[in-house]
Amino acid sequence: MALQKNELILFFIITLPSFVLCYSSLHENQLIDKYVDEASEFYSKAYPSYFNTIDDGSNLFKGLIKESADVLCLKSFDKVDSSTSSSAETVSVNDFGAEGDGETDDTKAFEMAWKVACSSKEAVMVAPKKTYRIKPIRFSGPCKSQLTVQILGTLIASDDRSDFSKDGRHWLIFDGVSNLVVEGGGAINGNGKNWWQNSCKTNKSKALTFYKSKNLMVRNLTIQDGQQIHVSFQKCMNVEVSNLSITAPPKSPNTDGIHVTDTQNILITSCVIATGDDSLSIVNGSKTVQASNITCGSGHGISIGSLGSGNSKAYVSDITVNGAKLYGTTNGVRIKTWQGGSGSARNIRFQNIEMHNVTKPILIDQYYCDRKKPCKEQRSAVEVKNVVYKNIKGTSASDVAIKFDCSKSFPCLGIMLQDINLQHEGRKTAKALCNNVNVTSIGVVCPLCPKLEGQYETCQCL
Ligand SMILES: *[C@@H]1O[C@H](CO)[C@@H](O)[C@H](O)[C@H]1NC(C)=O
Ligand SMILES: *[C@@H]1O[C@H](CO)[C@@H](O)[C@H](O)[C@H]1NC(C)=O
Ligand SMILES: *[C@@H]1O[C@H](CO)[C@@H](O)[C@H](O)[C@H]1NC(C)=O
Ligand SMILES: *[C@@H]1O[C@H](CO)[C@@H](O)[C@H](O)[C@H]1NC(C)=O
Ligand SMILES: *[C@@H]1O[C@H](CO)[C@@H](O)[C@H](O)[C@H]1NC(C)=O
Ligand SMILES: *[C@@H]1O[C@H](CO)[C@@H](O)[C@H](O)[C@H]1NC(C)=O
Ligand SMILES: *[C@@H]1O[C@H](CO)[C@@H](O)[C@H](O)[C@H]1NC(C)=O
Repeated sequence: MALQKNELILFFIITLPSFVLCYSSLHENQLIDKYVDEASEFYSKAYPSYFNTIDDGSNLFKGLIKESADVLCLKSFDKVDSSTSSSAETVSVNDFGAEGDGETDDTKAFEMAWKVACSSKEAVMVAPKKTYRIKPIRFSGPCKSQLTVQILGTLIASDDRSDFSKDGRHWLIFDGVSNLVVEGGGAINGNGKNWWQNSCKTNKSKALTFYKSKNLMVRNLTIQDGQQIHVSFQKCMNVEVSNLSITAPPKSPNTDGIHVTDTQNILITSCVIATGDDSLSIVNGSKTVQASNITCGSGHGISIGSLGSGNSKAYVSDITVNGAKLYGTTNGVRIKTWQGGSGSARNIRFQNIEMHNVTKPILIDQYYCDRKKPCKEQRSAVEVKNVVYKNIKGTSASDVAIKFDCSKSFPCLGIMLQDINLQHEGRKTAKALCNNVNVTSIGVVCPLCPKLEGQYETCQCL
């Protein structure tokens, strides 16, 4: 009893300051948003100063507080978790009749183990070092207390698509499970070959989904050959993802790596993603997303969007990609929006990024149209506002290294390039294509937007 009391006190010592910090970071965000909105009234003069203050000017402190608070929120969760898991009850799927021979259907054993683990105090549900074949499973919460799922072996999906007739969109889904850690060094294999032959873009299937869950940690896992999207976070809050290796063949269609939708406060670090579609995609409703040390290739690179399809409203903000290496991807860092949408994508930073033979290293596409028929011209658009590209170097596979194709009716606002050096992988000089945008440049920026729209200005960087 006394021990539990101490644990509770420890919990408060650890979580309370972080709550205050999280709260203050929220407040800070609102301040910055307000500042940005005010600045937009007279943006051509105000923007460079806005970026300077965030970056290295007098308001450095504001930015620092914000960043460190975001990180602290997540770090403290780490501490709470590891201090309690030692006293946990272990629930092995093998104790519920799982064979783990790679052939037998072990779905029932996983479902039963989950029931027990979810209703125990601080359980660790373990899939030992064997290969378990499983059909779609919904791991539903809420659970009695925090819980760890340890995948030491391999979970392989049934490749019989009729097993997915009830819900074709999810294989493994954690639904409404908070305070959850999924880890273990094992593998999650979507066995997606049968899906790739007739792959369809709408309602993409996901190998691993976290839905309406708070305080999550997902780490030290391999996720491979997803049916379509490998890992999806939807309507989640306070998430830390680290050390995931996500792979699928370069030609497997719609196999996004990590997909973030309607999710706030998510930190993604040290992941290697080589798939057939977007490596990381961040879409509507996502706010405060930080990604660092991300290695991508093959695939389509890091994408914000697409946003605003079917004339919808979309909002994403406060997204930082800091530290990424992209190898031979079709895009590097991309923002894509459909015509006819509304809302905004704003306060976005891409920095410290290496491009290696990337077809379109820097891209804003407000005329995104991923259909057979061309899209009609429309008057509305999802606004793109306050995007910083800083210290981005390397090579482009095409001669257009930077393309800002902004909307005629909603030009991109507050776009800044600082210390950019992108060369064509071949011998030609790389160029920048810039429509409906005025770009602020700081330091050496290469290639530069042409002074007159439609013309190219080339420069040779050393
Ligand atoms: C996609 O899923 C939604 C929600 O389940 C459903 O209403 C819609 O019909 C699905 N669309 C397609 C093309 O399957
Ligand atoms: C990353 O995860 C792998 C297993 O997928 C593990 O072997 C490795 O030690 C982990 N690295 C770190 C730094 O935790
Ligand atoms: C898993 O990840 C954590 C944190 O990243 C690390 O400390 C730990 O060593 C890793 N465990 C394994 C088994 O790789
Ligand atoms: C970056 O990620 C890779 C791949 O997971 C890992 O091996 C490396 O240790 C990470 N580097 C840092 C500085 O965390
Ligand atoms: C976009 O996200 C917002 C906020 O989460 C939500 O209210 C809205 O329905 C979403 N729009 C679409 C098209 O999903
Ligand atoms: C660069 O990528 C293109 C295709 O995107 C490929 O044809 C070419 O061989 C690659 N070059 C190098 C040096 O890897
Ligand atoms: C760019 O700046 C010029 C001069 O200040 C202005 O006339 C033009 O409207 C601006 N274009 C965009 C797309 O903001």
